[in-house]
Amino acid sequence: MEALVQQIENYKQEITTFNSGDAETFRIKYLGTKGLVKTIMGEMKNVAPENKKAAGQLLNEFKLFAEAKYEALQQSTTNNQQQTTNDTDFTLPGDNLPLGSRHPISIVRNKIVSIFQRLGFAVAEGPEIEDDFHNFSALNLPENHPARDMQDTFYISQNPDWLLRTHTSSVQVREMEKGKLPIRIICPGRVYRNETISARAHCFFHQVEGLYIAEKVSFADLKQTLYFFVQEMFGKDVKVRFRPSYFPFTEPSAEMDISCLICGGKGCNVCKHTGWVEILGCGMVHPAVLENCGIDSNKYTGFAFGMGIERITMLKYQIKDLRLFSENDVRFLKQFTSAV
Ligand code: PHE
Repeated sequence: MEALVQQIENYKQEITTFNSGDAETFRIKYLGTKGLVKTIMGEMKNVAPENKKAAGQLLNEFKLFAEAKYEALQQSTTNNQQQTTNDTDFTLPGDNLPLGSRHPISIVRNKIVSIFQRLGFAVAEGPEIEDDFHNFSALNLPENHPARDMQDTFYISQNPDWLLRTHTSSVQVREMEKGKLPIRIICPGRVYRNETISARAHCFFHQVEGLYIAEKVSFADLKQTLYFFVQEMFGKDVKVRFRPSYFPFTEPSAEMDISCLICGGKGCNVCKHTGWVEILGCGMVHPAVLENCGIDSNKYTGFAFGMGIERITMLKYQIKDLRLFSENDVRFLKQFTSAV
């Protein structure tokens, strides 16, 4: 019994001078399930029966003593915290927020737009949710036309006639319908296709399409306009070639290639060892399209072209994976701070 009294006396001393941590450290050490108070309570079983009552009182009192100290510690922590809050100097300037940078797609789109603006093209925009007529039928792509397979898209269940546009040619249709001629527009915007996502394809991408309709517009105008564009975009040394192609809305149609920027035309992985990379589709607007949009095809002719901004950006910056554009990883995005 005497030993117990002595032990408790020592612990009280220890508790009084406790300053090696906060209230929680104290609670764990003294009041927790494995704490000292619990352990010393266990001593009761060794106390002789005649002393049990006195020992019980002693231990209880010790417990209350430890709890009081815990409360005092808790109180002082709260006071300290309040002190800190009150110490905040609200007149100090705020933290600097890091400045973001333009997305590479935006940089290249702006560049493309500004080149064509210098040639007198105006920017036209239209809805991303389109109807069948503006996206397909008006463009000589009637229902069941096999070329629709190349541009499978997402349909809106609310109305089977609505879909996510597969190209911004739909904006050109809307512009032609207005009937104000001549027309000289470029249509930048987001388009959608039902494709499996990979390094080279995504279910959405961005386009800039162009349309020029007036009297006596010829294929020579088309070639010269696009040649000017690539020289401004990629430099004066770039070469172009046109390959015959097929689009239902243009006749004749062509695909335009530029000499490979990576190997300078010698042949490398990027150009699949041909020295050329395809960058856009183009052609003379099909007379049936003009008529569908209420334009006299005997009086007017026109050319149209369309390119994927992602593709131009990948060539310009040598980016190998299309998915990087939509992952929003700042380590990728912050590399494009400067204008092209
Ligand atoms: N609309 C075509 C596409 O998205 C591109 C194109 C536009 C081709 C104009 C020729 C003329 O694939």
